Amino acid sequence: MALDRKTPNDLNAFWMPFTANRQFKKNPRMFVAAKDMHYTTSDGRQVLDGTAGLWCCNAGHCRPKITEAIQKQAAELDYAPAFQMGHPVAFELANRIVEMAPKGIEHVFYTNSGSESVETALKLAIAYHRAKGQGTRTRLIGRERGYHGVNFGGISVGGIVNNRRHFGSLLNGVDHLPHTHLPDENRWSRGQPEHGAWLADDLEKLVALHGAETIAAVIVEPVAGSTGVILPPKGYLEKLRAITKKHGILLIFDEVITGFGRLGAPFASQYFDVLPDMMTTAKGLTNGVIPMGAVLTTADVHDAFMDGPEHMIELFHGYTYSGNPIASAAGIATLETYKEEQLFERAADIAPYWEDALHSLRDSRHVTDVRNMGLIGAVELDPIAGEPTKRAFAAFLAAYDKNILIRTTGDIIAMSPPLMISTAQIDTLIGTLADVLKTLE
Ligand SMILES: Cc1ncc(COP(=O)(O)O)c(C=O)c1O
Repeated sequence: MALDRKTPNDLNAFWMPFTANRQFKKNPRMFVAAKDMHYTTSDGRQVLDGTAGLWCCNAGHCRPKITEAIQKQAAELDYAPAFQMGHPVAFELANRIVEMAPKGIEHVFYTNSGSESVETALKLAIAYHRAKGQGTRTRLIGRERGYHGVNFGGISVGGIVNNRRHFGSLLNGVDHLPHTHLPDENRWSRGQPEHGAWLADDLEKLVALHGAETIAAVIVEPVAGSTGVILPPKGYLEKLRAITKKHGILLIFDEVITGFGRLGAPFASQYFDVLPDMMTTAKGLTNGVIPMGAVLTTADVHDAFMDGPEHMIELFHGYTYSGNPIASAAGIATLETYKEEQLFERAADIAPYWEDALHSLRDSRHVTDVRNMGLIGAVELDPIAGEPTKRAFAAFLAAYDKNILIRTTGDIIAMSPPLMISTAQIDTLIGTLADVLKTLE
């Protein structure tokens, strides 16, 4: 029987992730095609993508170079074993990633998602200290409101309560820094907020509480996305770097959304000029087209594992699909597309226009804060009393009806369009959102 791609006749079997399944299945929202800045819905509408899919299609949709690379690679070498065997495309992509990464990042460990990148980095951190003869360093420090994917390590260091509360006692030996959202001090901030660098000093308190010799790593998103866009105050990341270094603690930047141009630089590490020991990536690495992630490390982290007999496996970790040929080909084509179209520079150039457009919503109904950085924007709404998330979800549904795709988390609207967005499309996105806000209860 031919597969009808437009109208499935039963929606029951697919248990959708992070979705209100019953609500969705009563009134489904289906995309059936995409091109550049737009999705096509099953009822034939063009929807402007204000979120780059899920913060991943940074180069826009169905880009020819990426499509062709995948087709060619699938026909030439579909799969090669990832353990004890190699293929050239994965090595080539790793070289290209290192070329794009901040100076000091020299190695790439492939995964298949942001969540797997996080688990990999956390495991690497603990194993690194063990390899260096400091096996007591096992504690992992995350941050309140952090999002590091959905696996056990990630939700343990993460700080979003609904992602944690249903899943038992999580990993032992984890602690959290305070988040950096200070609405009273930083409301309506454009770019990095002025106040809050002192929040990094809480790491000194955790060191005093637990002992540095028990702490393996600190993991933070340089810009927190999924919690509703929380920005690092000026000087905060620099302080975290200084304190971690002082105490021999590894610093991991979770760059799953900030990586590959979102801030107008290849990585947030370059944007803020702070070099972590490891960076977790995914999403924009392949433009979201094929699942792939990567952990980027310094030589120091990598080299700690490179002793012992040469015939021995150095790290007992990896995935069947690590460096999959088709994903690697998609990665190379994606990085080439970014470069050829100068998309990171474009994002940096258009960011001030984006900022002004976003802040024009300041006086709209229900808006209590607007925040932005690079091509990221957040509009925070006053929740309906006693019914948190309902107002923002209503905004999401109304926006979809008006042909724009936004994302909401709690009562915050988050946007992160493909880096190819034009000023006219920014006007459409923000203008339509302004209309939506007028209609909300
Ligand atoms: C900062 C961060 N880390 C990790 C992840 C998890 O990535 P994935 O959904 O690919 O597992 C995300 C996803 O949004 C993210 O934003």
